[in-house]
Amino acid sequence: MTKTVIIVGCQWGDEGKGKIVDRLTEYAKAVVRFQGGHNAGHTLLIQGKKTVLRLIPSGILHAGVECLIANGVVISPEALIQEIDELIQQGIPVYQRLKLSATSPIILASHIALDVAREKTTENAIGTTRRGIGPAYEDKVARRGLRLCDFFDSKQLLKKLQALLDYHNFLLRHYYHMDECDYSQIADSLLQIREKLLPLITDIPTLLAKYHQDNWPILFEGAQGTFLDCDQGTYPFVTSSNTIAGAASTGSGLGIRHFNYVLGVSKAYSTRVGNGPFPTELFDQEGEILRVRGQEYGSVTKRPRRCGWLDSVLLCRAVQLNSISSLCITKLDVLDEMEVIKICTAYRLGKQVLQEPPLHPENLANCVPLYEEHPGWKSSTTPIRKFSALPINAQRYLRRIETLTNTPISIISIGADREETIMLDKII
Ligand code: IMP
Repeated sequence: MTKTVIIVGCQWGDEGKGKIVDRLTEYAKAVVRFQGGHNAGHTLLIQGKKTVLRLIPSGILHAGVECLIANGVVISPEALIQEIDELIQQGIPVYQRLKLSATSPIILASHIALDVAREKTTENAIGTTRRGIGPAYEDKVARRGLRLCDFFDSKQLLKKLQALLDYHNFLLRHYYHMDECDYSQIADSLLQIREKLLPLITDIPTLLAKYHQDNWPILFEGAQGTFLDCDQGTYPFVTSSNTIAGAASTGSGLGIRHFNYVLGVSKAYSTRVGNGPFPTELFDQEGEILRVRGQEYGSVTKRPRRCGWLDSVLLCRAVQLNSISSLCITKLDVLDEMEVIKICTAYRLGKQVLQEPPLHPENLANCVPLYEEHPGWKSSTTPIRKFSALPINAQRYLRRIETLTNTPISIISIGADREETIMLDKII
């Protein structure tokens, strides 16, 4: 049977989804982004050459694969054009491979100004990527936002822009006491970019329904991760979209019966950028080793990532929330030199021992992780291409993750390059 596969992050983003999507694209005919925006940063390393994608699906480097940005994605026209131009300079025929949804919300410069203003003035800043993501999603649900279909009629576009900008500027001036955004600058930029984007705008739900009917294998590429989900994550320290697998349907217009596989991607340890609770965070030398060996610096914002041990309480919750079919464990090689590797299997909260995350997400900050310890393997896993050739302690560590989550592991990543991957099962 043809598979329609959703790929989601099981942690706080940066799990290495981009590399896995790129690798699986070999077997797919279309790759779809369904939420988030250019807050995402998907890094691909192919034969030593690095490409960082922010908005465009990670399948774009493959000939014969359609890349769709669906309605759930908030689009900064400036960021999109910059990314398209960068790829074209590398010789990638983006205009032949990329399609955009008519109903995707547009991120304006004033959304970015509002995002920055909030982060500067709020006591409990979220630590956002300052890309205007939250304010753009707010305008979408408030039913006042601009969408790509507004590009069809430039007169209407400018009228809607004026109304929205009046509102944004009121907030900027009178609530945040910041500078206003210039209408004509934003309008000029939109009108210029409009010409370039119009040929890419399509009816994505109709396309997807057709591809499904034609039995195309399709990948749905999640951005961020389960615990940044606006409903299920560590609220309020979350992004403003639904990041879990269910969003693939609402964010693309393909009906839920047509999905049949969810691949959950998790690092062999944990990281988080931005603020918010992180029970297994390490503040010592071991955290620094993970950061340095794993090159844990944001691909978009360059911020150092917070690092810690794998948290199986959260991983089990991710399996549950996404109905994960199998797991992909990335960056196993980052643990290669560790003497001892820990997995959090429960929390202590006051006098209670919890096997599940606390009912109030804010209490996660008060949870003390309870660990089990595993001996390290102290040898390089990067050249290995077969599970049975991995050091026995690495095999045991992975088997333990399977047992704790009651979920099979289908892919192991042991380096940044496309080839540095162990495939245990055929996903698509
Ligand atoms: P926003 O999505 O820019 O509003 O940021 C909200 C939170 O999500 C912040 O903690 C960000 O650091 C985090 N975040 C957003 N996008 C990503 C991502 O692609 N990887 C990791 N964290 C992200």
